[in-house]
Amino acid sequence: MEFRHRVIILCLCFLYLTAVDSDLASDRAALLALRAAVGGRSRLWNLTASPCSWFGVHCFQDRVVELRLPGGGLIGQLPIAIGNLTQLQTLSLRFNALSGQIPPDFANLNSLRNLYLQGNELSGQIPEFLFSLQNLIRLNLAKNNFSGPIPSNVNNLTRLSTLYLEENQLNGSIPDINLQLEQFNVSFNRLNGSIPKSLSGQPASAFNGNSLCGKPLLACNGTESGKKLSGAAITGIVIACVFVLLLILAILIFLCKRRKGKSSRSPNLVSTSGEQTAAQIPRSPSAVEIQDKSSGVTAPVSGDQKGKTGLVFFGTALGGFDLEELLRASAEVLGKGTFGTAYKATFEAGLVVVVKRLKDVPVAEKEFREKMEAVGAMRHENLVPLRAYYYSKDEKLLVFDYMPRGSFSALLHGNRGAGRTPLNWETRVTIALGAARAITYIHSQGPTISHGNIKSSNILLSDSYEARVSDYCVAQVVISPSTPNRVDGYRAPEVTDPRKVSQKADVYSFGVLLLELLTGKSPTHPQLNEDGVDLPRWVQSIVEQEWSAEVFDIELVRYQTVEDNMVKLLQLAINCAAQYPDKRPSMTEVSKQIEELCHAASQKD
Ligand SMILES: *[C@@H]1O[C@H](CO)[C@@H](O)[C@H](O)[C@H]1NC(C)=O
Ligand SMILES: *[C@@H]1O[C@H](CO)[C@@H](O)[C@H](O)[C@H]1NC(C)=O
Ligand SMILES: *[C@@H]1O[C@H](CO)[C@@H](O)[C@H](O)[C@H]1NC(C)=O
Ligand SMILES: *[C@@H]1O[C@H](CO)[C@@H](O)[C@H](O)[C@H]1NC(C)=O
Repeated sequence: MEFRHRVIILCLCFLYLTAVDSDLASDRAALLALRAAVGGRSRLWNLTASPCSWFGVHCFQDRVVELRLPGGGLIGQLPIAIGNLTQLQTLSLRFNALSGQIPPDFANLNSLRNLYLQGNELSGQIPEFLFSLQNLIRLNLAKNNFSGPIPSNVNNLTRLSTLYLEENQLNGSIPDINLQLEQFNVSFNRLNGSIPKSLSGQPASAFNGNSLCGKPLLACNGTESGKKLSGAAITGIVIACVFVLLLILAILIFLCKRRKGKSSRSPNLVSTSGEQTAAQIPRSPSAVEIQDKSSGVTAPVSGDQKGKTGLVFFGTALGGFDLEELLRASAEVLGKGTFGTAYKATFEAGLVVVVKRLKDVPVAEKEFREKMEAVGAMRHENLVPLRAYYYSKDEKLLVFDYMPRGSFSALLHGNRGAGRTPLNWETRVTIALGAARAITYIHSQGPTISHGNIKSSNILLSDSYEARVSDYCVAQVVISPSTPNRVDGYRAPEVTDPRKVSQKADVYSFGVLLLELLTGKSPTHPQLNEDGVDLPRWVQSIVEQEWSAEVFDIELVRYQTVEDNMVKLLQLAINCAAQYPDKRPSMTEVSKQIEELCHAASQKD
């Protein structure tokens, strides 16, 4: 008995020791093993200095989190070593001369998000264990010599957004991949069979150079459509079709008659019983359902004013239309956002609002209503006010003011090319200041209150091009836990759940927004993200090499007189986008600094 206990305690101690043992020293050992095996630029590492200072190595909290040696002249087979870098998030060894197989210890890289091995001579099968690395977001194995099938467990990787496998020797058919891939390519392999339906939306060039068929390539022949039908069967089908058509007609006539008999219900709904037009809110089936029930909807528990049909209004600016009127207004789809589809609804009297139909509301009604009451009570000149909301089992709507000038994102990135009016420095800083003030106001509402979704497409513009921040404080109640957890270029590194964004994480996103404003580069641009290089890091790398001037948007280059201020704003942006939350300034501080720059801008012009 005694002895067994002792053994167990000994074992536990041993486990504990091995656990603490995986630290920077073991990371260093792994890097040295790699260096010994493949050489190249790793030969330049200064072995007396900390591995965190080595070329291509980045650390976070004293562990190696990134190893990037692209085009580094690495030759030979990867040793069993990299698997010991257990905190590694990005591994980029693209465009080297690595050969052999992917070593089995890669299975230990549980933190890995980005794996770039394209442009080598790696061979063998793509190991299945790669697809059990749950955190993987970008996987690029293109331009190698991988053979065998594409593993069928791809679907395990729920966060995967890039899968590049082009220019290998892969064979077999493409598995049914049910992921929302933003980047996908399997061209120039030896794949055959039909393209699974789930991938039919990808461009044709993603499949070229194989023996594949089906959408987006040519249809597959020799399947069902090729079978000859007998004359009798054809006659049967024709008769059935005619019968069904007659039946539909009869139902339509019946419905029209019935509706006419009823009161003054909206006429445009009547004719469309089955058919829907995405371009009008009222015509989607669930909305029709609400309208039919609207008179029976119970009044909500609270709200400044209770709308007749369950719409809860804030303030009096909109003069309390009812749900029926809202659904009858002519509507136009503005776009699909994180939360659902946004419509522009125009009332007959000329009033225009934006209606957001929420896809998914993962919280209970009470929590939703409480949150909306808090959001609806927020008022600031640089916020787009929430005017009303609607909650029922089948439908959740938010009603905002309509901003005719669109978003800052569209203003900055849209219509680049001939005919574009350059966006001047003064407009840019004014927008930055307005947005900063709005976010400062939000943060002043309480230490746990944050915007949660700062990005340039959520900064809308007033008639005079002043910032109006939208979609604030609703992330917690409208993002479903099952939404794929995408990294979108604005998100602070410490954020793991998009519903839980701290004020410091807001500051990070705002910093990225400032960098976007200064560089004219979109942080969500796939090319920028190709190698997991985000906008802050890209800017940092250029600034470190003392090329600051090259960072700025070409449209800003002529504002020589304010270059000082541009550099100051750049420094502020970099501080906001600091890796460690503690190093980031507060929004109050950020607003104050931008205000000073604005003063300077108006004095010089
Ligand atoms: C290597 O690093 C050590 C310690 O940081 C430093 O003293 C030494 O000068 C470095 N050697 C070279 C060649 O840079
Ligand atoms: C690629 O792999 C095939 C076998 O799968 C082999 O015959 C060929 O030599 C390899 N090519 C290169 C460039 O390594
Ligand atoms: C794909 O090719 C393999 C041989 O390379 C063959 O056995 C298989 O039947 C082919 N599949 C289809 C669907 O053509
Ligand atoms: C896929 O890769 C091929 C070859 O590298 C390239 O020509 C094609 O444009 C790529 N298509 C997509 C959609 O990435």
